[in-house]
Amino acid sequence: MNKVLEQNHELYGRDIEKAANSSYRLGYHMMAPARWINDPNGLIHWNGEYHVFYQHHPFDVKPGSIHWGHMKSKDLVHWEHLPIAIAPDKAYDKSGCFSGSAVDNNGVLTLIYTGHVNDDGVITETQCIAESKDGIHFTKHQQNPVIAIPPKGASHDFRDPKVWKYRGKWYMVVGSQKNKLGNIHLYESDDLLSWRDRGAIVKSDGRLGYMLECPDFFELEGRHVMVFSPQGMEPEGDHHQNLYQTGTLIGNFGYESAHFNYGEFTELDRGFDFYAAQTFKDDKGRRILYGWMNMWEAEMPEQAHGWAGALTIPRELTFHSSGQLLMKPVEELQMLRHEKLMAESMIVSGVKKLNFAGDRLEIIAEFAKKTASSFGLNVRCSEDGQEKTVLRFDATEGKIVVDRNQAGEGEGGIRKAKISSLDTIKLQIFIDRSSVELFVNDGETVMTSRIYPKAGSNGVEVFAEGGEVDLLSLQAWSLKDIWNSLSEKTTIE
Ligand code: FRU
Repeated sequence: MNKVLEQNHELYGRDIEKAANSSYRLGYHMMAPARWINDPNGLIHWNGEYHVFYQHHPFDVKPGSIHWGHMKSKDLVHWEHLPIAIAPDKAYDKSGCFSGSAVDNNGVLTLIYTGHVNDDGVITETQCIAESKDGIHFTKHQQNPVIAIPPKGASHDFRDPKVWKYRGKWYMVVGSQKNKLGNIHLYESDDLLSWRDRGAIVKSDGRLGYMLECPDFFELEGRHVMVFSPQGMEPEGDHHQNLYQTGTLIGNFGYESAHFNYGEFTELDRGFDFYAAQTFKDDKGRRILYGWMNMWEAEMPEQAHGWAGALTIPRELTFHSSGQLLMKPVEELQMLRHEKLMAESMIVSGVKKLNFAGDRLEIIAEFAKKTASSFGLNVRCSEDGQEKTVLRFDATEGKIVVDRNQAGEGEGGIRKAKISSLDTIKLQIFIDRSSVELFVNDGETVMTSRIYPKAGSNGVEVFAEGGEVDLLSLQAWSLKDIWNSLSEKTTIE
């Protein structure tokens, strides 16, 4: 056993075994060795390696004393656990090292995070720094906290700094709250230690809710994009159905004026379990995003198995020529493909059981609309027909539907998303034991959900209701378990 896992054994006790034997344990997603995780933090491609940190409570399967867990990878597919990077052990962060980001400061891997203190209900949030030369061991800066007070007139909610460099200066966006409305402030610095508030560049007028968590601001193909997680938005039709949202504002930004001119809020992912996303730019110039693949206050049946929470698969952000933001699985994920299970085309009417099964699958299905009023795939189906997760296109409403009312343990529910009307519908589906990530029409709409079927509910069905559909092609692969078969040979096809 390697050293990190040995240390983990001491830290996590028996939960590490329990988690490894969990029927819900994911095979190619990032999780802690055991126990609780939430937001992805500190995403960075540093010295040729991808580093991902995450909000982690190593002493329980529930949130609590938050540390920063840490993993690294050379290829975004095979990950190695590293020792916990930072722990809440200082007066200014004693109740939690909350979310934040990472930068390379002249070769020093620097984490910028929120120190959270809760003294009998009196909360203080400040921005702090930790540095590492080897990318493994971090030292908190003597000058912490580097931003000790929230913006003028704001409440104590002041968290989740995302830092980047532009033309020799450091910039930070950070979430805050004033008069019960959420704001995103921009700060500026020459040295990461002394920061100047340039004002709020996003302000909720009520519609964006009372607090804007986890802001992330970047330029993509000539446009400026703010990714953030508002709390307190009202549901509107099929939109904003989860407890909290994660989405974007897209527009133009001027560093001189510190003015961000933006359009409407758009949700990034329309499934049940997606929050607190963060992005980074890798050495290939790609803008890559990870989200937390859960939702605050959701039931998490894996807690009974010694663990809770995971990150989504990595997704690349690009713009479609129509101006729509697309989110696609990164191409490296093709390395997960193990065995090709099927490649076929057929006319479908009624329900047809397919001749492959599995709980770790990638499926790409392309349908051409015909007479069916509804068509799609049922995945994680039990033999007795009691369990299934339904992924379908409702041709009457023009909506993609994820229905987990028969998916197994945990909460059910339905999520719907209208898609632009095309004659062909392409579904790319990543199934990993207790998760389903659905990418529609090359990343136009994405729906991410946790599901908790019984082990053995592995069937896959294709169906068409009220007529026929033309299944132009269906390809499927079983996917590798990177945690249990790190030695398996992998290639990009
Ligand atoms: C988002 C969040 C952040 C905070 C962190 C605490 O999920 O609430 O605002 O920093 O989680 O773990």
